[in-house]
Parts: sequence; structure tokens; C-alpha cells
Amino acid sequence: MTASRTGRILVTGVTGQIGSELIFELRKRNGGENVVAAGHKRVPSETLQNSGPYETLDTTDKSAIEKIVNEYGIDSIYHLAGILSAAGEKNPQLAWHVNMDSLHNVLEVAREKNLQQVFWPSSIAVFGPETPRRNVPQETVLIPRTVYGVTKVAGELLCNYYHDRFGLDVRSLRYPGIISSETPPGGGTTDYAVEIFYEAIKKKRYKCFVRRDTVLPMLYMPDCISATIKLMEADPSKIEIWTSYNLGGLSFSAEELADEIKKLIPDFVCSYQPDFRQKIADSWPMSLDDGAARKDWGWKPDYDLSSMTMDMVKKLTRRFEGEAAES
Ligand code: SER
Repeated sequence: MTASRTGRILVTGVTGQIGSELIFELRKRNGGENVVAAGHKRVPSETLQNSGPYETLDTTDKSAIEKIVNEYGIDSIYHLAGILSAAGEKNPQLAWHVNMDSLHNVLEVAREKNLQQVFWPSSIAVFGPETPRRNVPQETVLIPRTVYGVTKVAGELLCNYYHDRFGLDVRSLRYPGIISSETPPGGGTTDYAVEIFYEAIKKKRYKCFVRRDTVLPMLYMPDCISATIKLMEADPSKIEIWTSYNLGGLSFSAEELADEIKKLIPDFVCSYQPDFRQKIADSWPMSLDDGAARKDWGWKPDYDLSSMTMDMVKKLTRRFEGEAAES
């Protein structure tokens, strides 16, 4: 990949699932001191704190964002802080406040200070039961049933508006469920696809909170990081979608994932006990058409179900063995 065009970067939500990995890639490419990490409630790891500046930031407070932007001379913001689908249903008022007010603050600071670029993640949660279930087109019906999905649709429209009205370079991806080995996700509906690995390796058992035949679009973290960087480094003339790009990768049922893990851990047993998250999963599509991302800026995932599963099991097994040896 080519070197980044941006100068100093602020990344919010760095203690979360995606932020905790994206931050290291951005620091590798731009230099640790040029990428400011901002988290809110969770304690940042030592490795994160030692690799560059870290700030505690509540993104619902616009003046707090401004202070960091001024202090460090920030040119671009990757705004990852947010509340996910299942957590959002437990407190819809908070989800709206955190997701919408934070995005609006980031866009306003970027507009007022004439920042170079903003990245903001949208999600498959923008879709709803009226959306086609397979191979969802880029432009389609967006009537989500979760407050998280509502904030993502509103956010996409707001990003598009800031681009159209103020010329702000704000780019976005509709992330599917992200599978990763470093930081577990929290409060999402697709979390089972990560939990299953932890439990399979540690306990050889997992009680999955969606039905075995639940199929959702997913993506492995290395592909998620490379898509994000590729989109942000694409020449602006190549970007045709200023709401948010569909991003496809993997698509499998919970049972297909369990079977794939069983190939590596033969005594693993998965049982299924759907809870309130099943309804959310059922309102989302099974697969996406990401042809626009492929055509406009060359998106192509590297991992399939089998290579992702092998890599996850290898990485987590190594980590748990290391932890056991230390204790
Ligand atoms: N992974 C998210 C969730 O489950 C979807 O964007 O909420």
C-alpha cells in the first residue's frame, strides 16, 4: 500500500474492537507521534499507550474534540466511537445521543477547521426487513428496525450532506460483522461470530445466541483494516458514493462457522439458544453486493471462511497458551 496522504490523525474509539487494531496500522504508516488515540471508558493497553499519544475523550463534548484537534494540529479524524446494535436496544436514547451527537460534533469540527478527511463507519444495520436478503444492491430500501441502524442511516445522510453542502471529504463503509482476535466486540448482534472462537478454544463448548441457520455478512479484521485504509487513500475523483459503500466479504450461517471450527477442534460442541438478538439478525441481509467498492477503489477481500477460521484459531490458541505460561 502507498503512504498515507494525511498529516496528523485523531482516532476515536481506540479501545473498541476495530479502533484497537486500526490504530496500530495507522501508526505504522504515519509514525506513532502523528496518530492520536482517543478512548473513553475502557483502560487502554500498555502497548497502545506506549506507541503514541493517548487522550481520554467524550465525543459527545464538541469542545473536548476541538481541544485535541487544536493541541495536536489534527488534519483527519477516524471517528469509530459508538454504541452497537444490541446495546443500543437496551438504551435507545443513549444510543441516539452518543452515535448522532458525536458524529455531528466531528463533522462540525472538521468543517470549521477545514480538516482534510473524516472516516466514519456505517453498518449492515442500515438495512431492514424490506431490503432484499441476498446480494443487497448499493442503493436500496433503508428502513432499519434498531435505533443503531436508524443512527447509521441518519449518519450516512449527514455525511453525504456535509460532502455535498460543505465539500467535506468524509468517507464511509457499511461494515458487516467484524471477526477479530485482539479485542472482543461489545454489544453487537454479530458478536457470536467472535465469542464462538474464544469459547471453542477455552471450553470446547459454546451456546450461540442466534439460530444455527442464521446467515449474516462478515469480514475478517485484516480485510476490514485494508478496506478502510484503501478507501481513505483512494483519489477523491474515484469516490462516487458519499453516503457509505457496501462492503462484502464472507457470508455463512452460525452452523457453517461451528463446523469449520470443528475441523480444527474436533471435540467442539456448539448449541443454539436464540435470545432478543435473533430478531435483529433476522432483520439484516445475508450478503451484500459490493461491486461499487470493487469498481471505484479496488476493494477485494483476502480471506474466506476457511482461511479466516484457521488464522483465528492459530492466533487465539497462541495467545491463550502464552497467558497460561505467564500465570
Ligand atoms: N457488528 C455490528 C452489530 O452487531 C453491526 O454493525 O451491532
